[in-house]
Amino acid sequence: MRHSILISGAAQGIGAEIARVFYQQGYKVGIYDVNESLAQKLASDLGPNACAGYLDVSDYNQWQHILKEFTEWAGELNILVNNAGILYSGAFETTDIKAHQRTININVNGVINGCHAALPYLKQASFARVINLSSASAIYGQADLISYSASKFAVRGITEGLDVEWKKYGIRVLDVMPLFVQTAMVKNMDAGTIQNMGIDLTPNDIAQKVLTLVEKKAHFWTPTHTPVGIKTKLLYQLSTLSPQFLNRLTNIYLSRK
Ligand code: NAI
Repeated sequence: MRHSILISGAAQGIGAEIARVFYQQGYKVGIYDVNESLAQKLASDLGPNACAGYLDVSDYNQWQHILKEFTEWAGELNILVNNAGILYSGAFETTDIKAHQRTININVNGVINGCHAALPYLKQASFARVINLSSASAIYGQADLISYSASKFAVRGITEGLDVEWKKYGIRVLDVMPLFVQTAMVKNMDAGTIQNMGIDLTPNDIAQKVLTLVEKKAHFWTPTHTPVGIKTKLLYQLSTLSPQFLNRLTNIYLSRK
């Protein structure tokens, strides 16, 4: 049987590119998004081994519904990619409190819901793995991206903890941590880091990394977190080696406007 992959937030951007790359590799692909018409269009453009549907990741009941539907269609669920996410940028105090709360609800609860609802299916599968979209915003707390950065630190924590908890089921839970990627999410972003760091990555860079993480045999030394891009790798290494005051100075420098 072909392996299957279910991707949240896959109507556009990084999720859509992951769908394309895995489809080309012969996977059965599930494209789920709040933008159902765009998700359906992508599935019909790809072909008969892709399906699509409506999913708001913050709604646990919807997860249960689409997971049942997807596994009936695909045979089993092998790979879950928690990709759906939103971002608000700007000063913490001028960002509406509802925007902060919405970010946490989608970016954090969306991942918790997805992992929780998918586990019964992943446990039954012949091979199972989870890939979460964390971010370079989970390396340093990001000025002008407070709730987004907090949400990605949470995804990093969820991934790290579950990668230990689900060892008993033989399921690795991994994440990718890219710096800025050329998608709609970062258009008109109001944050010093994007001005200072630039946008070097394409959705395909991330999709190829996800493919590697899925297809490579995982050993006990396979890292849970994968920073994507040279700048992210450098920041990640630096944050683990340098003292806090130096991390703060680096952070201030990178966030300047
Ligand atoms: P995007 O804005 O292009 O696409 C996000 C997709 O998620 C859209 O199709 C949107 O309709 C969908 N979505 C939004 N809320 C949803 C919900 N409640 N339920 C289901 N789907 C929902 O963004 P992009 O750049 O493709 O981001 C994908 C993931 O990658 C996100 O988790 C993001 O935080 C992460 N990421 C993005 C980076 C970037 O610079 N673009 C860098 C690092 C991580």
